[in-house]
Amino acid sequence: MSLFNVYPLFNITPVKAAGSYVWDENGTRYLDLYGGHAVISIGHSHPHYVQKLTGQLKLIGFYSNSVQIPQQQELAHKLAALCGYPAYNLFLVNSGAEAIENALKVASFHTGRKKVISFSQSFHGRTSAAVAFTDDPSIQAPVNSGHDVLFMPFNDEEALQEIRDPEKICAVIIEGIQGVGGVNIPSESFLKKLRAYCNQHHIVLILDEIQSGYGRSGKFFAHQHAGIEADIITMAKGMGNGFPVGGILLHPKFEAKYGMLGTTFGGNYLACAAALAVLEVMEQENLVENAAQTGMYLMAELSKIEGIKEVRGLGLMIGIEMPFPVAGLRKELLEEYRIFTGSASNKNTLRILPALNLKKEEADLFLEAFSNVLAKTLV
Ligand SMILES: Cc1ncc(COP(=O)(O)O)c(C=O)c1O
Repeated sequence: MSLFNVYPLFNITPVKAAGSYVWDENGTRYLDLYGGHAVISIGHSHPHYVQKLTGQLKLIGFYSNSVQIPQQQELAHKLAALCGYPAYNLFLVNSGAEAIENALKVASFHTGRKKVISFSQSFHGRTSAAVAFTDDPSIQAPVNSGHDVLFMPFNDEEALQEIRDPEKICAVIIEGIQGVGGVNIPSESFLKKLRAYCNQHHIVLILDEIQSGYGRSGKFFAHQHAGIEADIITMAKGMGNGFPVGGILLHPKFEAKYGMLGTTFGGNYLACAAALAVLEVMEQENLVENAAQTGMYLMAELSKIEGIKEVRGLGLMIGIEMPFPVAGLRKELLEEYRIFTGSASNKNTLRILPALNLKKEEADLFLEAFSNVLAKTLV
């Protein structure tokens, strides 16, 4: 049987990983500044994480999918202590897309409405609220799975006034920082306007923190930089440091009813162990603070390099926009300097999404390699 071939892949097979490094089968070491689409939050193979997962397996003696409510509660308790939303409720799922679909469902149930507002260049997984990012124009249209999605211009406060029939809208959904779209930060004023607009029209404000959340921006959630509160927050990616786990945080105004939401694998005990280990390490090692400090250092140093069009980001979610497509730069960084970086739907932006415990020496390795590669490209 062949694989359904939708991913372009590098011809590298990682066989070992630790911290911010991975090794291939020939023993070559790579600095990983992408973390498999931003999932590596506490570093590869963190000892506490490995111990917690293996310990969990040994404790039960086998892997089953049974949901363990005490473990979910332990996770909810820890999350409440760290995330800035102690009074919210937690519903666990397996992936980002599942978190988004459940968030939209809750918004629809709560308001009795169906329309959703999303923004240009947003990405909310393979869900009804996102456009597919691909070079093929035949698959650019949003895939509609029940919600009627209106795409508005990003960061455009005026455009909000032009929305017709706000009484038909159940949710406004926005990323804390747009990731796949090229690391675009919603302005504080835009987020505040959205919050006020949603309050005025009884619309549910969903903050998609699947990529920008869990400490990556230098705050637990990126929208907390703007001082607003969301009604629902979606989470996944770094939540399990590679183990598939996602969730939604819900304002207490949403009343839970049996049968309202459901999931087969969401919140199984291995997922809870992984998610709990991540939070424990984040707390013990001050990783949110490290993301803020190391991110600031990286961005300050990048801004000194000539030839870059713009450096955008918060914490360790950084976009480096060049005046030309970055595919060549990324290839050179990988082949010459053994450094993994990411791209964006905007082909001129290189994305950096390293583990939150990235060290200054590792940041320096990248800065030196990037300067050299750029100097060579610009000759
Ligand atoms: C902001 C955002 N939302 C949702 C998703 C979808 O997550 P998943 O791939 O786990 O379905 C992604 C994935 O890249 C994302 O970046």
